[in-house]
Amino acid sequence: MSDETLSNLLKEDRRFEPPAELAANANLTEEAYERAAADREGFWAEQADRLSWDQKWDTVLDWTNPPFAKWFVGGRLNAAYNCVDRHVEAGHGDKVAFHWVGEPADDKRTITYSQLKDEVSQAANALTDLGVGAGDRVAIYMPMIPEAVVAMLACARIGAPHTVVFGGFSSDALASRLTDCQAKVVVTADGGYRRGAPSALKPAVDEARTKTDVVEKVLVVRRTGQDVAWDDDVDVWWHESVEQASTEHELEFFDAEHPLYVMYTSGTTGKPKGILHTTGGYLTGAAYTHWAVFDLKPETDVYWCTADIGWVTGHSYIVYGPLANGATQVLYEGTPDSPERGRWWQIIEEYGVTIFYTAPTAIRSFMKQGREIPDARDLSSLRLLGSVGEPINPEAYVWYRHVIGGDRTPVVDTWWQTETGSIMISPLPGVTHGKPGSAMIPIPGVAADVVTEEGESVPNGSGGYLVLTEPWPAMLRTIWGDDQRFKDTYWSRYAKQGWYFAGDGAKKDSDGDLWVLGRVDDVMNVSGHRLSTTEIESALVSHPKVAEAAVVGAKDEDTGQAVCAFVILRDEAGDGGADIVEELRNHVRKEIGAIAKPRQIMIVAELPKTRSGKIMRRLLRDVAENREVGDVTTLADSSVMDLISAKQSEGK
Ligand code: WT7
Repeated sequence: MSDETLSNLLKEDRRFEPPAELAANANLTEEAYERAAADREGFWAEQADRLSWDQKWDTVLDWTNPPFAKWFVGGRLNAAYNCVDRHVEAGHGDKVAFHWVGEPADDKRTITYSQLKDEVSQAANALTDLGVGAGDRVAIYMPMIPEAVVAMLACARIGAPHTVVFGGFSSDALASRLTDCQAKVVVTADGGYRRGAPSALKPAVDEARTKTDVVEKVLVVRRTGQDVAWDDDVDVWWHESVEQASTEHELEFFDAEHPLYVMYTSGTTGKPKGILHTTGGYLTGAAYTHWAVFDLKPETDVYWCTADIGWVTGHSYIVYGPLANGATQVLYEGTPDSPERGRWWQIIEEYGVTIFYTAPTAIRSFMKQGREIPDARDLSSLRLLGSVGEPINPEAYVWYRHVIGGDRTPVVDTWWQTETGSIMISPLPGVTHGKPGSAMIPIPGVAADVVTEEGESVPNGSGGYLVLTEPWPAMLRTIWGDDQRFKDTYWSRYAKQGWYFAGDGAKKDSDGDLWVLGRVDDVMNVSGHRLSTTEIESALVSHPKVAEAAVVGAKDEDTGQAVCAFVILRDEAGDGGADIVEELRNHVRKEIGAIAKPRQIMIVAELPKTRSGKIMRRLLRDVAENREVGDVTTLADSSVMDLISAKQSEGK
């Protein structure tokens, strides 16, 4: 972010006080900050008490071997029991867990906690029959249908860590994840609905199986009814196994540190990182934050998080947090604009949604379409709005609050990461006033700071690196199979202090409130999704016509950042042919998925490099953002940028 944008941002001085009624009945009040700071572990133990434990822990935190934390040591619990069975046992079996809304209009299902318990038990039995035992990994590659949630909880119930792979990822991306975590079983569907048409999933699983031999069984939900290839030795229909299985399933309890799931995310190198979350601490963090930050009143609220379960937001704020809290939710299969642009607002009106959690990129696109679309619906049920995934620009924040929230609703801008497992920095809706663009301060129990390269806390009004200075229960435990990378990535930069380095730049304003500014490493944020520049570069270079590639994230009005690639072709490829740009864009889509498809590709003769051979992405970003190119004095050959800039203006 340029200094100019930053100082404009910091001039933002609109303030929104918490509504009186919300403040008077808030789940968490001001005193929690002090209480948590005075006795952090005691505070977290109190939060862990939200869960049902078969056996209580002996020690809250074991931090004797940092950065490898153990939380609630000696405790035993079952995550699925906490999310489902205990609510039924408490007499809430008839309560709605999910109002599921399919993309085709009128395709809906209501699922109570009792029904969820039966289905999870059936799926647990079926997975056991397929040979899945505690500790075995199961991959889930599904559309947003109830079976996806059921599959996750069934895995948790039998202690088999799941790895959910976003349905938009390609077969290559799926195969590499299957191999990395050695997934024995894949749960998928024939397809799902996207923008009015069935889109296939099973073929990608079939193709992935030609690239890895770890998978023994594929469990397939029939969602669209489209034709699928079938391998009798491997493929099993959900309706012929899960739906035929017993609804009785004997529960087992697992150690608090038993692996719950692995979620892959992009890092600064080509290979995605398998972020490992374990059971007791993670569930504590998800349940506590969902209750505190969204001020959840489980008896009356209807909560809707629009994330896909293929991302961590779907894990913590659709599955584990809300269900542990016994919430009633909306779960929606499709895109915001199908079959019409007001679909989301129609759903809010129909189900009386009270708490709504989405991403800035979606808000910006609705802003662009105009307020007439949401204005056509009754959104008066809403009492709280949340934002996640990237910095929310003040204009989008104010529009969200004003147009969607009718100026009644606080907006909670929640900063966290796949690695942190749960929300870390956010306003508390009944305590903190809203300041458009700022995520405000760490929630009670969390300790964060903005520091210099050397680790000194920056004064108010200055920027630096965002760090987390104390361990927290939902923190990642390691990178699957790679403890060294875990240490190097997060804990080496501030090793002396023992701090977690988040990879984000941030600023403290004159009140000491935090403004998260974005990544400081080679990671891009496109529509709130994390993408690695190196991963896309590797995908491009794997194309036979490509010699070298450099990728940058350029500012984009709609998606926050957009992928821009600079490519050098191999000599034998000549000019690559008329369709070379489209060919390369599609290649990236095939290698990684549609979300990684570059917005723009420039074929160039040279890339700007330093004398030591490092690509100067900063200069390429200048070109991609149509700025005058910055300081080129450290380039090995400074004429390179003249060539690229000339080419850029030619293209306009
Ligand atoms: C990165 C984490 C957390 C779930 C979704 C993304 C950026 C996330 C905010 C926010 C500014 C944000 C950061 C972070 N980010 N939320 N409220 N304000 N930036 O999870 O894929 O792990 O990405 O998203 O850059 O490091 P993720």
